[in-house]
Amino acid sequence: MADATSFHSVRVHDGEAWHTLDVQEGANLRRVLLRHDLSPYTRWTETANCGGRGLCATCGVRFDEPPVPTHWHDRLAARYGYPRLSCQITVDRPLTVYLLPDKNIWGGRVSE
Ligand code: FES
Repeated sequence: MADATSFHSVRVHDGEAWHTLDVQEGANLRRVLLRHDLSPYTRWTETANCGGRGLCATCGVRFDEPPVPTHWHDRLAARYGYPRLSCQITVDRPLTVYLLPDKNIWGGRVSE
């Protein structure tokens, strides 16, 4: 099991290129993305969002292997095939993340 000083590789595709980040165990994925100028938001929702409280669903991203949801809203997103709420994802293992540059606000539903 990883301790508090462990780091995980988080690969992020922004729609054009891959970025590889070393992320500390327990970090919040939304904050990590914003800190690295890899926003999960669109230009419309960059400032009009809930600030990471799991309410607006505008911070959605997709994964190769999605983490198990722990928040009620993220659980619904996972269940119905919507993008996962990056603000409700804790980095506790290596992740491959896809930003959704084509979404207008939320991003579409897909079967997973
Ligand atoms: S920032 Fe609003 S749900 Fe994630």
